[in-house]
Amino acid sequence: MTLPKRYLITSALPYANGLKHVGHLAGAYIPADIYARYLRAQKREVVFVCGSDEHGTAIPIQATKEGTTPRAIIDKYHEAMRQDFEDLGMSFDIYHRTSDPLHHETAQEFFTYLNDRNELEVKETEQYYDEEANSFLADRYIKGTCPNCGSDRAFGDQCETCGRTLSPDELINPVSTLSGKTPVKRKTSHWYLPLGKHENFLRKWILEQHRDDWRPTVVGQCKSWIEGGLQSRAVTRDLDWGIKVPLPEGAGKVLYVWFDAPIGYISATRQWALDHKKDWKPYWYEKDTKLVHFIGKDNIVFHCIIFPLMLKLHGNILPENVPANEFLNLEGDKMSTSRNWKLDMRDYINDFVKTENGGTQCVDMLRYYLTQIAPETKDSEFMWKGFQDAVNSELVSIFGNFINRTWVLMHKLCGGKVPRLHEEILNETDKALITDIQLAKIKIEGLLEEYKFREALFEVIDLSRKGNQYLQKNEPWILAKKISPNRPGEEVSAADLPAQEAAQKRIDNTMHLCLQLSANLAILVNPFLPFTARKMMHMMKVVDKMLDWENAGNIKLLSVGYSLREPQLLFRKIEDSETEAQIEKLKSGLKKMEEPKNPAPQAGGEEIKKETPAKPGIQFDDFAKIDLKVGTIVAAEKVEKADKLLKLSVDLGTETRTIVSGIALHFQPEEIVGRQVTVVTNLAPRKMRGIESNGMILMAEDKAGKLHFIQPGTAIDPGSSVS
Ligand code: 2FM
Ligand code: ZN
Repeated sequence: MTLPKRYLITSALPYANGLKHVGHLAGAYIPADIYARYLRAQKREVVFVCGSDEHGTAIPIQATKEGTTPRAIIDKYHEAMRQDFEDLGMSFDIYHRTSDPLHHETAQEFFTYLNDRNELEVKETEQYYDEEANSFLADRYIKGTCPNCGSDRAFGDQCETCGRTLSPDELINPVSTLSGKTPVKRKTSHWYLPLGKHENFLRKWILEQHRDDWRPTVVGQCKSWIEGGLQSRAVTRDLDWGIKVPLPEGAGKVLYVWFDAPIGYISATRQWALDHKKDWKPYWYEKDTKLVHFIGKDNIVFHCIIFPLMLKLHGNILPENVPANEFLNLEGDKMSTSRNWKLDMRDYINDFVKTENGGTQCVDMLRYYLTQIAPETKDSEFMWKGFQDAVNSELVSIFGNFINRTWVLMHKLCGGKVPRLHEEILNETDKALITDIQLAKIKIEGLLEEYKFREALFEVIDLSRKGNQYLQKNEPWILAKKISPNRPGEEVSAADLPAQEAAQKRIDNTMHLCLQLSANLAILVNPFLPFTARKMMHMMKVVDKMLDWENAGNIKLLSVGYSLREPQLLFRKIEDSETEAQIEKLKSGLKKMEEPKNPAPQAGGEEIKKETPAKPGIQFDDFAKIDLKVGTIVAAEKVEKADKLLKLSVDLGTETRTIVSGIALHFQPEEIVGRQVTVVTNLAPRKMRGIESNGMILMAEDKAGKLHFIQPGTAIDPGSSVS
C-alpha cells in the first residue's frame, strides 16, 4: 500500500461562546493530537489544524447573556480556548478563527463557486418570525419541545437533551427566545444544498467504500440519515451575525454557520501555508493527501454527509476517515453546560496543572485517563475515582515505577552509566523481553493507524508492566549481594570469582535491557504523554531525534558507558481528598442551579419521594429461570407506523437476534448502534407489527422518566451471561 504524501488532520472547531469541558477534549482533540504526534514521529508530512467557530446564533445569544457584543464574546473565548488547548499540550500547527477576513473570503468563494455552477437551489419558504423583535428566528433563536424526547430544552437546530438535529418546524409549541412570544410564519428565500440529488454518490461513498474502515457507529448514523431520506439543507440564514451572502439578492442574509465552519479547516490551512511560505492547495486538491476529521458524534452528519458533498462539488478531496467519538459522561450523568454538570478544561488546569504539585505531569495524567476511557465505541464515564485509580495504579505504580526502579538501580549498581550487554549469556527471559519490545512497536502502530487509541495506550502500559516483571524475575538487587558480601573488609576467595563475574554480567544485562526498554517506552508513550516523554529524554540525556518512531523496537538506543541523569518522578499520586473535593465541587455547582426549581420542603413537612412500588418477593429459583445475557446492538431501525418501536439486531456472541423494543421515543436508531445492553434471551417469541421479537432489552427509568440501558461498566464480549 502506498503511503499518502501528506496528512491533513482537523479537530472540530469549538464554538467561541464559552469554555470547553473535558468531554470535548476527549472527543475531538486528544485523539487528533495523538494521531498527529504519531505521524510526525513517523516523519510524515502533517498539518494539524483547528480554530474557533465564531458564527451562528450561539454567539450573539451569549453576548446578550453577558451584556456585551458578539465581537467581545468571540475575542474573549477564542483566546481562552486557545490558551486551554495550549496548556493541555494540543500540538495544532495553527489555531485559527472563522472571524478572520481570510476565512470570510474563503467561505464566500466556496459559496459563489457552488452557486455559479447551479449546485445550490433557491427556495421561498415560510419561516418563523418574531413580530416584536422584527426578526426571523433561525436555529437558537427559537425553542420549544423536542418531538423526539419531549424535553423543553430543544432549539431550532438541535435538542439539548437528546442531541437530535432539528429544524424549527419540528418543534412543538415554538417560542421566540428573543421576546418569549409565539412566532408567526413569514415568507423568505434561501439557498439550499440539495442532498437528495446526490444520494447515490453518498450511498456508494459511505455505505460501500467506507463500510468497513469507518467506525460502525459513524457508518450506522450515516445509514440512518441516508435511509431516512435526504432533504435539501438551507445554507443561508436571515441574520446579522455571520458571513454575508456574496450576492446582491442576499442582502441581510448570512451563510449558515454549518456551511462556513468546516470551510474553516481550509482557511486555517491557507493561513498556515501563508505563515510558513508553503502551498496550501495540495492539502485540499491532491489525491495523495489523507484528510482525517476528528469530531464528536453530534457532528457526524455535517462531516460525513454535508461537508463531503460540498467538497466534492467544489472539486476538493474527501476525508479518508472521520473517527467520531461518542459522548463522555461525568460521574454517571450527561455532561451539560446548562446544568453546570461538567469539568471545564480551565478548571482542571487551575486545580491540578497550575498548582504547587502540578505542572505538566498533571497534563499527562489527564491525557492518560481521557485516552484510557475514550468513548471510541460507546459513551463512557469520567469518574474521579477512576481518574485516581488510573493515575495511582497504572501511571505511578506501573509505568512510573518501572522507570524509577530502573534509574535508581542503574545508579546504584552500574555507577550511573549504561552497562554492557553480554550477548553470549542472553537467556530466555532477556530474549522474551526483546521480542516484547519489538512486538509492542508493531502492535501500537497498527492500532494507531486504525484510530484505536485506547488499545494502543494499553499496549504501552502493558510493555512497562512487562519491564517490571522482568526486573522482578532477575532481581539485580539480590545478584548485587553476591558481588559485595555484606561483611566489609572480607576477602573474596578465588573460588567465588567466577560466580561473582556471572552475577555482574547478569546485572549488566538486566539493567542494559531495562534502559533500552525505557528508551523505547519514551518513544511509544510520546504521542500520548508528550511531557512525560520529554522528561524521560532529559533523564537519558538524549535529543529529540531519539523519539523518531523508526527507533522503536531498536534495543541499541542508549550507548554503553553513556552516563545518565538522576531519576525524576514522572507522576505524583492523586489523594482521596483531591477527588472528594472535586466531587463536592461538582455537586454544589449543580445544586446552585437546581435550588430555585426544587424548593426545600416546608417546615414540618416531609419530602415526598415517588418510588416504584415493590413487587411481591420471589424464590431464587424463579429468578434463575431468566436467562440474561450481554448483547451488542449492531443495527437499529424504526418500525413503520409504530412511533414507539425500534427493530434491533443484537449480537449475542453466538447468534444475532431480532428484538423489537419500545424505546423509539427515547433513542434515535443511529445513536444506539454499538451500545451494549442486557437481554432476556429466553422470553417466548412475540410478534409486534408483523416482526417476530426474540427477547427483551432491560431498561432503567429515572425519576424524570428517561430510559437508560443496563450495560456493563466496560465493553465485554457479547453473549456474556448476567447473573
Ligand atoms: O459542535 C460544535 O462545537 C461546532 N462548532 C463544530 C464545528 S466543526 C467544523 F465544522 F468546523
Ligand atoms: Zn430531544
